[in-house]
Order: sequence, then C-alpha cells, then structure tokens
Amino acid sequence: MCGILGYTGDRQASGILLAGLARLEYRGYDSAGIAILNDGKIKVAKNKGRLKVLEDRINAGEEVSGTCGIGHTRWATHGEPSDVNAHPLWSDDMAVVAVHNGIVENYREIRKMLGEHGYTFYSQTDTEAAVKLIDFYYKQEKTPLRAITQAIKKIEGSYCFVLLFKDFPNEVWGARKDLPLIAGQGKGESFLASDVSAILQDTRQVYYLDNMEIVQLKKGSVRFFDGEGYATHKEISEVTWDANAAEKGGFEHFMMKEIHEQARAVKDTFGAVYHSGKIDLTEKGLSDEAIKSVSQIYIVACGSAYHAGAVAQYVIEDLAKIPVRIEMASEFRYRDMPMDKNALAIIISQSGETADTLAAMRRAKENGIKTLAIVNVVGSTIAREADSVFYTMAGPEIAVATTKAYSAQLVACYAIAVKFAKVRGVIDDSECERLIAEIQKLPEKIDEILDEKGSLEAIAHRFINARNAFYLGRNIDYAVAMEGSLKMKEISYLHSEAIAAGEMKHGPISLIEKGMLVAGVMTQKNLYQKMASNMLEARSRGGFLLIVSPRDCDYLKDEADFVFHVPETDGHFTASLAVIPLQLLGYYVAVARKLDVDKPRNLAKSVTVE
Ligand code: F6R
Repeated sequence: MCGILGYTGDRQASGILLAGLARLEYRGYDSAGIAILNDGKIKVAKNKGRLKVLEDRINAGEEVSGTCGIGHTRWATHGEPSDVNAHPLWSDDMAVVAVHNGIVENYREIRKMLGEHGYTFYSQTDTEAAVKLIDFYYKQEKTPLRAITQAIKKIEGSYCFVLLFKDFPNEVWGARKDLPLIAGQGKGESFLASDVSAILQDTRQVYYLDNMEIVQLKKGSVRFFDGEGYATHKEISEVTWDANAAEKGGFEHFMMKEIHEQARAVKDTFGAVYHSGKIDLTEKGLSDEAIKSVSQIYIVACGSAYHAGAVAQYVIEDLAKIPVRIEMASEFRYRDMPMDKNALAIIISQSGETADTLAAMRRAKENGIKTLAIVNVVGSTIAREADSVFYTMAGPEIAVATTKAYSAQLVACYAIAVKFAKVRGVIDDSECERLIAEIQKLPEKIDEILDEKGSLEAIAHRFINARNAFYLGRNIDYAVAMEGSLKMKEISYLHSEAIAAGEMKHGPISLIEKGMLVAGVMTQKNLYQKMASNMLEARSRGGFLLIVSPRDCDYLKDEADFVFHVPETDGHFTASLAVIPLQLLGYYVAVARKLDVDKPRNLAKSVTVE
C-alpha cells in the first residue's frame, strides 16, 4: 500500500508529483506529501487527508518550487493518519528526507540503537526510524549509496524507499525489498514510482527493480546497484498499456467504467491463449505433458481473487476431474501441510504484489511445487517470481473494488479447466469445442446484462438505510455470492455475509428480520429446487428476496421480490454473468448512500502488508 514517486529533470517537480500521486491515490489516501530539493535545501509539504487538501494548501504546487522531488500517498500502518505521521519524513537536520511504502518490522530496535547515539523521534512511524538509520550511516559514509547499502542490511520487513539527500542536487535515490518500484526514463528527466500508471503520461520506457536493488536517478539517467553497492545492468522495457485506460472516460466512477470494460477484459484474456481453434497453455508452462503429470491443484489467493479461485475450484474439478483445493493465502502461508510434489499451485492476484499471496507462493516453491501465477500487473513481483505467468488482459484497474480483473481471472481459470479436461481425456473434441464456443459468447452476454442495469439502480434505493444482507448460493453460486457480498460491503458499508445456502438453517437464519436483503444466486440447474426452498425459508421470516438466475429458471418468479435474469450459458461459466448484477447492486447502493465508490474507507488497492 502507499504510493511513492520520485522525479528529477528540468520541469517543476511539484506539478509532476501531484499529477502522479493522483494516479497512485488508489494505493492509500489517508495523507499525502511531497518534498522538493532546491538550492541545497529540502522543503516538505504534507498533511492528513486526501491529496486534494495538499494540492489546495500549496496552490497546486506553486508554493514549492524546484525540479527534483519525491511524493507519497499514505495508507497508515504505524501511527494514525496525521500531519506528523504523513510522509515525507526527515532526519533532524533535513539532510535526508524519505517516503516509504511497507513495514520496517524491527523499527523498535532501530529506534533504540539510534537513541543510544542521541537520535530522538517526532512521529509514531516506523519510517522515521529507517530515515534516521540511513542518516546515521550517511554521516559516517558520506555517500547516499553506502548509507543505503548499510541501512538495508539492518532493516527487516518489506519496504520501498525513495529518498533525497540535501547535498546531492538533482538526485533521487530508491531501494526496494518485496514491494514494487519501477524507474522511468524520459528525455532529460527520470522517474521512480510504485506503479507504471503514475508516470505513463510522461514516459513508457521503464525498468523493473529487482529485490534488494538500489537505484539512483539523475536528470535523464538511471543507474542501478545491488545490495552490496555494485553497479548492475538492467534492460529497459516498453509499457504498452493504453494511457487512457487510467482515465474515467466519461463515467462518473472508475468502478462503473471498469464494470463496462469486462466484456473486453474477458475477450482479450481468453484471446491470449486461444490460437487456431485451440487453447494453448504451453507458454504458461503447461505443455500437454506437464498437464498430465499434475496430481492435484492448490489455488491460493486473497479477497476477490480468492473468490475467483473458489469458482475455479468447482469448474476445474468438475470439468477436468482433478482434485482442487482453494486456500486463503494468509492461512496457507502459515500452514504446515503435507504437499504433493506433483501438485500445481495456481496463484491468483490482480496486483501481483499482495503480501500474503506472495508469501504463500514462496512457500509453495519452497515445498518444490510448480507455481503458475494468474496476474494482471505486468512485471509485478508475483509475476516475476512464479515459475510461469498467465497475464489477465484487464488493463489497469483503478477502482479499489475489483471488477474487470476478477472477470478476467475467471476466464483464465476456465481456459485452464477446459484445457486440463481435454488433455486428460475427460472431454472429447466436440465437447471441448462446445465449451470454447460458450466462453467466447460470454463478452456479448455481459454487455447484454449491462443494458439492463437501470432496474438495479432503481432497486438499490430500497437499501439506502439497510443494515444487513445475506447472499446465498450453492456450488459455483456460493462462490459468486461471496464476491457479490464483498462488493456490497466494501463499497456501500452495508454489512453483508455470504452463506452456503444449505448452512442457513444451522444458525444464520436467526438473523433474518423483516425487509432484510437476502440475495440468492441460482444458476445451477441441478440445485434450483434446493435453492428455491432455502430462499423461501428466508422469505417466511421476512427476508426481501432478490434473485439472480438465468432466463430459463422458472423458480421463485412469483415469490421473489425482485428477479434479475441473466442470459443462459453452460453451467460451468455462469459466474461470469451472475456476478455482473451483484457488482452493479453494490455500486448503486454505494452511490445512493453518497459514498466514495472508488476509494472506500480503510481500504487500498494493493495490499502489501500482512
Ligand atoms: C475486493 C478486492 C480485494 C482483492 C484482494 C487481493 O474488491 O479487490 O479483495 O481482490 O486484496 O488483491 P490482489 O488480487 O491484487 O492480490
């Protein structure tokens, strides 16, 4: 979490930093700050609150002039959001000023050690300990490179620093461990950023820093060093993302824009592995031989990516007849379970930076298990460390609540399921072709659903003052209910729970009150009747029944309060359609409640802390 930036060149740094931070605000938005190095002095402006507060205070940057600077948007870990705890943080003589993303786990010991050398501390942050540690070595070593190499040997945890040194004009320094940092090179200027979207307006020529690497920016030149301070060579990469993809394009919110981009995300993701009438996963490390040797699959992820994995568990097991376990990354990483060496671990992550997911992947690798990452962000840490990568083609996702990346993850999993089923001889050619044709029809069906969104906007007003909701489903529909429920709670703050419909009677049913939203996902033909009975049990206790089902489902047409019909598709792929009205429902309830849809409270897009 936290967005960090650095710039040096000929233009005024403050404007560039503020514009870049606006594109990084999705990573954290409880405070913001910049520091500018000019004429041998570093000037800092920072405060609690959104970037806009800072922008207004410094007159859109005009009050802090200089062509070399660093910036930060914060998602608090150590120390509440406040002006003092906001970044940048500095050494007492302002010789070293830094912004930081991550956690310095041993900051207490560092503070204690520095305290013995006369240092005092003004903030509650772990970052201040790191800045003063760098300052401590800088005073001895006299060069930024040696100070940073000494300090990172002592700092434990995951981090990414961007620094200014008062005595080194026009230079910005950076270092990373386990968190993303990219360097960008323009004509006569250079950049550092947590994410390419922040600098895409200025340059498409980027370098991805490796773990424990150090970087030095000068005007238009970028140099790299390893953890010991030896110069290293890196290849430059060209970013091909469309810069407009990070703009709202006429929609009121990024989330709605991204909901509308799902058909394209699904089409492009499937298109990336579909060639000459066949699904080809060879480039993803899954040759036919490799597929045949897999004994079982672990799918590991967090949040919505976990929910996509939960759908995949049902789909892959049913189609390919291979055992699949879906695991929460935060649990998996600390579990000591026997793992089959011929298993395949599928790691799902939009950002490719989620700390728990990364740790879980490393654990699978330590156990000798092959890892395949399904990732959206090119060059992210998970993508680079996995044995092979299946990139989802969702493009940059800005809204904190994921929609299009989730949909792209689903279709990546369908491709894997169908390919495994075919290679392992569970389905024949004609069934394989039929399933592929169904997947290819999903984008137009998603667009059909979006044409009907008005009815969901109308019904959402009913829940402006609602306090609780249940989302029910069985099998794949339970996995979809989990995602629908998360979409509702994270952006509208309406407390909601997803429940496997059969579990209702074992406790949760006691919570149903008159008028409470009980959303039922009913797309699995063999379970229509069972689901209908569970929904009627909720209705008898006063629940307001909202049903999402395919057009051919006759159940509950008369008894439900609201039915949203989705187009029909093969039962394995219904999640891709059923989730759309649930995303829209969460969105419209949040809008009706006048909430900040794209940046819900307490959340951040990239969860790089445990
Ligand atoms: C919810 C959401 C989160 C993420 C989760 C994992 O809308 O976006 O639950 O799915 O934090 O993030 P990634 O996919 O980046 O690993």
